[in-house]
Amino acid sequence: MICNKSQGFIRKISKVILYKNDRNMAVFFSAKSKRLLVKALLLLTGLVGACTHYGRFVTPHVPLPEANYVGSEECAVCHEDVFQYYRKTVHYKVRYFEVAGQERGCEGCHGPGSAHIAEKGKVEQIIGFSRLTAPQSSSICLRCHAGGPLNNWYSNLHALSDVGCNDCHKSHKVTEEKMLYKGEPELCYDCHQQMKARVQFPSHHPIREGKMNCSECHSTHGAEANELTDITVNELCFSCHADKQGPFLYEHSPVEEGCTLCHDAHGTIANNLLKQSEPFLCLRCHRGHRGHKTPGSAPTLSAMLTSCTQCHAEIHGSDLPSQLGRGALTR
Ligand code: HEC
Ligand code: HEC
Ligand code: HEC
Ligand code: HEC
Ligand code: HEC
Ligand code: HEC
Ligand code: HEC
Ligand code: HEC
Ligand code: HEC
Ligand code: HEC
Repeated sequence: MICNKSQGFIRKISKVILYKNDRNMAVFFSAKSKRLLVKALLLLTGLVGACTHYGRFVTPHVPLPEANYVGSEECAVCHEDVFQYYRKTVHYKVRYFEVAGQERGCEGCHGPGSAHIAEKGKVEQIIGFSRLTAPQSSSICLRCHAGGPLNNWYSNLHALSDVGCNDCHKSHKVTEEKMLYKGEPELCYDCHQQMKARVQFPSHHPIREGKMNCSECHSTHGAEANELTDITVNELCFSCHADKQGPFLYEHSPVEEGCTLCHDAHGTIANNLLKQSEPFLCLRCHRGHRGHKTPGSAPTLSAMLTSCTQCHAEIHGSDLPSQLGRGALTR
């Protein structure tokens, strides 16, 4: 438990460090200090790793009732309604070979039920999820779901924040796909209110149009920073915006660094999902310039106050040099 909490703390701290840097972009941190930061983070990750191991070791244990397995049909006698819902879920179709030794119908989740039945439904004789903590109830699901997408559950920020499987999934009255109690994105908005607001901004990924889901970018069970589906932000963005992926002869270093230095993936007031409008976005890191003695392309001071990308059109990187033979991202 202590370990769990400290992991959450470390992840939050490293986030704050990164976020601060993001904000003070005017001082664009050098490659060297970045490497130091990465090292520091690796060290932290090492600690987290060690902790995760420990975390696994103290996985909450839910003692099974002292009873025998009787089979789901016995439960249907008194819980007919629940049984009918259950028959519609994928768990009803679970077969022995899928989860060897675990396929017990109702009792696979609620534990053996003979004592509960013998005592005419005494609740203490059966595992009732309303009496369990989130980590405890998750541990029951993880008996069968420990692999695959749930592999990293214990280092997932939801798990570390005491959000359990049942906060998103329902086992009986299932109305949505994947046994979710609500479809995306509404499910996520229940706890992430601010995202609902951001997705309403004029520039946005087509989430509110229903063409895209939060889980196309986020893995709610994964262990990457910000719960992303990819290891880095850029890899994630390239998976749909491949044209922005280099290598370019003339790179723009913040682009290599991370798309989110300039973009907010959820929504922004400025167009193109930019965190700020031009030229202010650029002026966070650049001074702009007074003018160039290049014939035909002499920017005036007034030009500085319009869109820099009118001239620096290849802002994500280019393979062609400028007229003066430099990498000015102009073509
Ligand atoms: C003889 C009737 C009867 C049978 C058979 C029966 N139950 Fe129950 N069960 C009850 C009663 C009564 C309650 C208490 C309901 C209440 O207090 O709201 C209950 C409550 C429960 C609860 C809720 C526990 C809680 O903490 O609130 C679960 C889970 C449960 N039963 C599962 C099962 C399972 C699984 C089986 C089959 C192994 C089963 N029951 C068979 C009568 C029965
Ligand atoms: C996949 C695991 C799982 C299986 C299989 C399962 N349950 Fe449940 N059950 C739960 C969870 C989790 C809850 C808490 C409410 C929820 O998530 O829907 C619950 C809640 C209940 C409750 C409490 C009343 C309520 O509606 O909240 C009863 C009674 C119950 N289950 C009976 C059964 C019976 C009877 C079966 C078999 C027909 C069964 N369960 C199969 C996980 C399971
Ligand atoms: C007895 C083993 C077992 C237990 C316990 C169990 N599951 Fe499952 N579950 C399965 C199997 C097998 C499948 C089907 C194969 C798959 O999708 O992995 C499945 C499928 C699912 C799916 C995918 C549904 C879909 O439509 O694709 C969800 C979500 C899920 N389980 C959630 C849970 C939750 C939440 C719990 C705990 C309350 C739980 N499971 C407990 C064995 C189990
Ligand atoms: C914060 C919400 C949330 C929590 C907590 C959560 N899930 Fe999910 N789960 C989702 C969403 C959303 C999907 C569907 C999109 C996806 O596959 O990522 C999903 C999908 C699944 C699937 C189907 C995967 C597939 O590839 O089809 C399984 C199985 C599953 N969850 C099990 C669990 C188990 C077990 C837990 C607890 C250890 C859990 N989930 C906790 C939101 C959640
Ligand atoms: C039951 C509440 C709940 C639901 C539902 C929920 N989350 Fe979360 N989520 C949390 C909590 C608590 C945290 C921990 C960090 C925090 O407080 O922001 C978190 C963290 C996150 C983070 C990491 C935030 C960070 O600060 O790095 C992401 C990303 C995320 N959730 C995405 C989702 C998505 C996508 C969904 C819908 C599929 C979802 N969440 C549904 C409660 C929830
Ligand atoms: C196009 C990809 C994408 C989509 C779609 C997306 N996100 Fe994100 N999200 C990200 C990225 C990238 C970050 C990390 C931001 C950073 O590094 O500055 C993030 C960060 C977050 C965070 C934590 C940090 C913060 O900014 O507060 C939460 C919470 C979150 N997303 C929730 C959601 C929810 C809820 C949805 C669905 C409404 C969603 N995201 C849809 C890419 C996406
Ligand atoms: C799952 C696919 C997917 C991923 C991943 C993705 N995008 Fe997008 N992106 C889209 C789609 C679809 C559009 C809308 C295109 C359209 O409307 O023509 C879009 C549009 C955009 C736009 C233009 C918005 C506007 O207002 O015109 C920007 C900027 C953008 N994405 C940046 C990013 C960044 C940065 C990332 C990584 C954090 C990212 N995208 C990840 C699918 C994706
Ligand atoms: C230095 C700031 C900056 C960074 C970093 C950045 N972009 Fe952009 N991006 C812009 C600007 C400015 C525009 C709008 C002007 C334009 O279209 O050239 C834009 C527009 C876009 C568009 C929509 C228009 C188009 O060209 O398709 C997409 C998609 C996009 N960026 C994706 C990305 C991806 C993916 C990354 C990370 C690899 C990234 N951006 C990094 C500044 C940036
Ligand atoms: C997060 C900080 C940051 C932002 C925001 C940013 N840049 Fe840059 N830019 C850099 C860095 C760092 C370099 C590399 C400087 C060097 O190599 O000396 C660079 C290089 C350039 C170059 C090439 C300079 C050369 O020496 O050839 C141009 C042109 C440029 N940026 C234009 C822009 C424009 C236009 C914008 C706004 C759309 C912008 N930048 C936004 C950090 C930033
Ligand atoms: C009217 C066109 C035009 C506009 C508008 C423009 N630039 Fe430039 N910029 C150029 C040209 C041309 C060069 C030099 C190309 C070369 O070296 O051949 C240049 C060079 C640069 C350089 C490289 C450093 C240097 O002095 O050589 C940076 C950085 C830069 N611009 C940033 C900006 C920013 C930030 C803005 C917006 C505030 C901006 N530019 C607006 C045309 C423009």
